[in-house]
Amino acid sequence: MSSKVVFVTGASSGIGRALALEYAHRGARLAIAARREAELVLLRHELERAKARVLVLPLDVRDAAATHEALSRADRDLGALDVVVANAGVSAAGPPGTIAWSDVERVIDVNVKGAICTLVHALPIMMMHGKGHLVGVSSLAGRAGLPQSAIYSASKAALSTYLQSLRVDLRKVGIDVSDVQAGFVRTPMTEGSGFPRPFEWEAPKAARYIVDKLDRRPAVVDFQFPLTALTQLVRVMPRGVYDRLAPIVVRR
Ligand SMILES: NC(=O)c1ccc[n+]([C@@H]2O[C@H](COP(=O)([O-])OP(=O)(O)OC[C@H]3O[C@@H](n4cnc5c(N)ncnc54)[C@H](OP(=O)(O)O)[C@@H]3O)[C@@H](O)[C@H]2O)c1
Repeated sequence: MSSKVVFVTGASSGIGRALALEYAHRGARLAIAARREAELVLLRHELERAKARVLVLPLDVRDAAATHEALSRADRDLGALDVVVANAGVSAAGPPGTIAWSDVERVIDVNVKGAICTLVHALPIMMMHGKGHLVGVSSLAGRAGLPQSAIYSASKAALSTYLQSLRVDLRKVGIDVSDVQAGFVRTPMTEGSGFPRPFEWEAPKAARYIVDKLDRRPAVVDFQFPLTALTQLVRVMPRGVYDRLAPIVVRR
């Protein structure tokens, strides 16, 4: 890990923050990106206590030119990018009729376009070096259309499908692609959502698990059992059964 350069979006909070800390403890050099610079600076102090070399990159992943520049700068200043984690994400959930078009646009702009923008701009840099690992943080919510989470589920399904194609395309290029299909993790995104969050993990535990698994560069990192099994089951379940069961299981 000591030679690794890791770029994480959405590093100011939750899973991204915990991933940065976990990578730092394993000796990586870190580029940490998000919109809230003050949070990133606080994180940098923590990372530096773990002796990590850190680059703070205030960034809105909806800005393609800025995303390209941030990735190029990290590659230039820290050394060849090894791992790029497109983790930045937002949520929108609620009963039918409560999600405005602006919420839909926000979720698609960050979770789909922003994540893919990060990966698209990281790819040529990695191709230039002939190595690298592209990672997207999607969700188990992308495996099925969850009640009251239509646009969030759809955004994560889009990202997972994109990552699956990309992995196939890059198989012979020396660049790996992994899709982190996370279950429930306690973060500012989920706290106060009002949804039940069975088997929820704390962010440091999730980060430890993700980084351990990513080391082997798998197609998918998913957690937690039995949510992983349940969401697989939903894919083969008759639609009529799902329609009746899902609102009961995910009731607020
Ligand atoms: N927590 C869960 O249970 C769970 C489960 C499955 C998947 N996930 C996914 O995990 C990822 C991290 O979520 P989290 O739970 O850690 O939530 P969080 O604590 O709210 O963190 C979200 C991060 O995304 C950043 N972000 C949001 N919009 C951005 C933008 N336009 N440009 C750059 N950064 C932006 C935020 O930073 P700024 O506000 O500073 O920009 C923040 O650092 C998300 O993709 C989420 O969908 C979470």
